[in-house]
Amino acid sequence: EPIKGHVTFNHVTLTYTKDDDSALKDICFDAPPGKVIGLIGSTGAGKTSITQLITRFYEPEIGEVLVDNRSVKDYNIKTLRKHIGFVLQEPFLFSTTIKENIAYGNPDVTDHQIMDAAKRAQAHEFIMNLPNGYETMLGERGMGLSGGQKQRIAIARAICINPSILVLDDATSAVDMETEFKIQKALKEVMQGRTSFIIAHRISSLKHADEILVLDEGQIVERGTHDELLNNDGQYKRIYDI
Ligand code: GTP
Ligand code: MG
Repeated sequence: EPIKGHVTFNHVTLTYTKDDDSALKDICFDAPPGKVIGLIGSTGAGKTSITQLITRFYEPEIGEVLVDNRSVKDYNIKTLRKHIGFVLQEPFLFSTTIKENIAYGNPDVTDHQIMDAAKRAQAHEFIMNLPNGYETMLGERGMGLSGGQKQRIAIARAICINPSILVLDDATSAVDMETEFKIQKALKEVMQGRTSFIIAHRISSLKHADEILVLDEGQIVERGTHDELLNNDGQYKRIYDI
């Protein structure tokens, strides 16, 4: 049955190793279908950990993670993961064709879906300008493509199975302004109608989020929209002022 992408965290605590402090402490939030949630906070604050609980990559020690009001534990893990697309900071590309790179991990995807995903990810045009289009072979780690082009291939891959939840983990952190602009445009398009989690170091990518969670040492220390948080005079405003 279809998943709408409603994500809820109820008092979630995550501990990786018994001797360590919890990586997440009592995290509560509700992300209705289609909303954009921003996650910000210093390194090690717990941003990536939150997204890894949604895919059940890890299990919380205390509390519950729900998708469409149903515990993630009650889903078939493959089905669940099919509904969640990930774009990571360092896109992993393989020395095979562009087409195979976009379809990677989704053997059932059709040529039509691949091309549609590439169009939404603003990648179709540059792919068509390559000598063999979608059949162009990439070198090791995507050699032959620019950083921004690799990112857009990664975005196309994340959405080619039409997931209802999208996780963007620092997708624009290591690129120049022009490339960032292209990626932002692609992201804006692909986030339409999907519950999206944007992990960012730069506040510029969070301005339009429906809710921003500010994390510090595994806890949510502030939450609200960009404007609300700037009025708060807290940690978010201090990051903004730097
Ligand atoms: P950045 O990506 O650096 O901005 O940090 P983040 O906010 O994504 O933090 P993350 O969720 O990766 O880590 C939160 C805490 O959990 C940190 O103290 C990490 O050292 C710890 N942690 C993350 N992943 C693992 C893991 O796989 N094993 C263990 N033992 N600890 C982990
Ligand atoms: Mg991280």
